Amino acid sequence: MTASNMILKLDSEIDYNVSSVRADFPALSLEINGYPLAFLDSGASAQKPIQVLDRMDRAYRSEYANVHRGAYTLSQLATDNYENARITVANFLNAKTPDEIIFTRNVTAAINLVAYSYGRTFLRAGDEIIISHMEHHANIVPWQLLRDAIGIEIKVVPIDDRGNFLMEEFEKLLGSKTKLVAVTQVSNVLGTILPIKEIVRQAHNIGAHVLIDGCQGIVHESVDVQDLDAEFYAFTGHKLYGPSGIGVLWGKLDLLNEMPPYEGGGDMIENVTFEKTTYREAPARFEAGTPPIVEAVGLATAIDYVTSIGLEKIANHESKLLTYATNELAQIDGLRIIGQADHKAPIISFVLDGVHPHDIGTIIDSKGVAVRAGHHCAQPLMDRYELAATARASLAMYNNTDDIDQLVDALNYVKEIFS
Ligand code: ALA
Repeated sequence: MTASNMILKLDSEIDYNVSSVRADFPALSLEINGYPLAFLDSGASAQKPIQVLDRMDRAYRSEYANVHRGAYTLSQLATDNYENARITVANFLNAKTPDEIIFTRNVTAAINLVAYSYGRTFLRAGDEIIISHMEHHANIVPWQLLRDAIGIEIKVVPIDDRGNFLMEEFEKLLGSKTKLVAVTQVSNVLGTILPIKEIVRQAHNIGAHVLIDGCQGIVHESVDVQDLDAEFYAFTGHKLYGPSGIGVLWGKLDLLNEMPPYEGGGDMIENVTFEKTTYREAPARFEAGTPPIVEAVGLATAIDYVTSIGLEKIANHESKLLTYATNELAQIDGLRIIGQADHKAPIISFVLDGVHPHDIGTIIDSKGVAVRAGHHCAQPLMDRYELAATARASLAMYNNTDDIDQLVDALNYVKEIFS
């Protein structure tokens, strides 16, 4: 153990009991290819604590029926669980009311909902949407579909070589044609934390609305949507230690109720005749068909889990681990970290001289280390750095210095193979 590792371990013991957190996650006891699993791909999807697994198991075994439809006991229970999950999410985000919480399939579905429903209602040909160069495809392609359908323009805020969002360039792009700013809270590739509060303030100064893609951000810091004051905030459940198949769109209630439905079907209607259908208010108007019932319960349990430990403590632990990992990786000859912004979440993309990132991913898997390798659904960002791909270690509340040491040993093994 190095001296810095020892200090970090001692600090962590005082502030945060990572061993007891790890014990809650069954997947972390797996052996992969004869090695303990070092799971460093939580930016793609996080592992789930036993609390979430047990709660979902109970919901399926003894509390399951469709929601909003049955007068019988089980359906009432399932409906209560589902609507209580909405209240949990609303409290977590400090929303004014649970009616502002729409359950979607994931963050991609949430952004597509806004692009389609808000975009086709409030935007016209020639209007401009501003995004950043760091967006993943979920916050690029829906706006391109809208552009192709109605003729809006998309402007892109550049970044510097370290991966910082260039506020002065953003200000230059803001103008009378700007109607919406849609940016990520945290880059899934670079780890850059964007100054979203200041972005909202600048956008509002010229009367534009703002959507924040929080899928990488909400995992690492608490969010108060009233304080942030954007019009929309979206995130996904599976990166927040909850199940896949559920995401959240928060929106200001008046705005949501001015937006037409995105999908039609059961549960979102007031009255249907063959001539005319009327629609319920938000959130129901945006939740057509049977919703993700048990997934909502799982997400609420995941939120209770991280809240009970404390997002600030989690962020503090992750920040120390990011410093440790950055220092250890920097000692590997030929390794270059892509993304060194001033404010970073615990995401480290890197390349290794002479080795394709896919080879890195495959070889270190043989040593039990799981990272993502590829373009990370952010091809324009890869182009910005003239790279086809990177390897990415994304850290979570359950990672420890042993995981990082295992990654470093595995990368040294890669270097041996390619030397
Ligand atoms: N957006 C996810 C990632 O960054 C899938 O890996």
